[in-house]
Amino acid sequence: MQFYARAKHFYREVPATEEGMMGDYVELSSVDIKSSREFLRKFVGGPGKAGTDCALDCGSGIGRVTKHVLLPVFKSVELVDMMESFLAAAQNYLQGKEERVKMYYCSSLQEFTPAPQKYDVIWIQWVSGNLTDKDLLEFLIRCQNGLKDNGVVILKDNVAREGCILDPLDSSVIRDLSILRRLVEKSGLAILEQERQEDFPEQCVPVWMLALQKAFPEREGVWVRSP
Ligand SMILES: C[S@@+](CC[C@H](N)C(=O)[O-])C[C@H]1O[C@@H](n2cnc3c(N)ncnc32)[C@H](O)[C@@H]1O
Repeated sequence: MQFYARAKHFYREVPATEEGMMGDYVELSSVDIKSSREFLRKFVGGPGKAGTDCALDCGSGIGRVTKHVLLPVFKSVELVDMMESFLAAAQNYLQGKEERVKMYYCSSLQEFTPAPQKYDVIWIQWVSGNLTDKDLLEFLIRCQNGLKDNGVVILKDNVAREGCILDPLDSSVIRDLSILRRLVEKSGLAILEQERQEDFPEQCVPVWMLALQKAFPEREGVWVRSP
């Protein structure tokens, strides 16, 4: 509980701006967005790919990902974040496009359940480290149930070079890729593709994007393995 209480305490002091969401690395936001768009394009909008109806932005903050990555692609987007102040700011930040944002859920991800089979894409960026291993695993299982056929979860986060690093400041952990992959696989999701974020400064912690899909999608009542 202290782990989560500390994170809430930390985010109370974070400004509801792009600078706040990027933790003082706002100059990296456009590079991040460009790579996210390119990565997303591989998995949506074509035969056998995810649809473009509805996406869920998890740990959305003010909606930076929603505005620049999801709204240009999806008919509607929903946001979920534990901080009411960020969701309130989102309505202004997303101005002009806010009518396509259908829901703002104020909830911790460890307590949130995406509606079943509702989403083409569930985007989880720079927040998975705020969940304990057990809560992240359970959240990924609930996300899986929230996906439509061919839907994908995109997990984008800092990744440690080795092991698990605790950041006591914002009460988060940075897991290495093998730990992250193990959690994902345990959840029943399969890794479709993983890609390292390019063009971030060398001194930054590596950032990776993982595209995840149900390992055993249900088709006409029969459980089959993804290709
Ligand atoms: C570094 S910001 C990233 C925001 C956004 N994903 C982006 O990339 O611009 C982390 C966000 O995760 C939210 N957050 C942290 N822990 C959370 C939790 N347990 N449940 C839901 N949201 C959480 C914070 O309130 C904050 O908005």
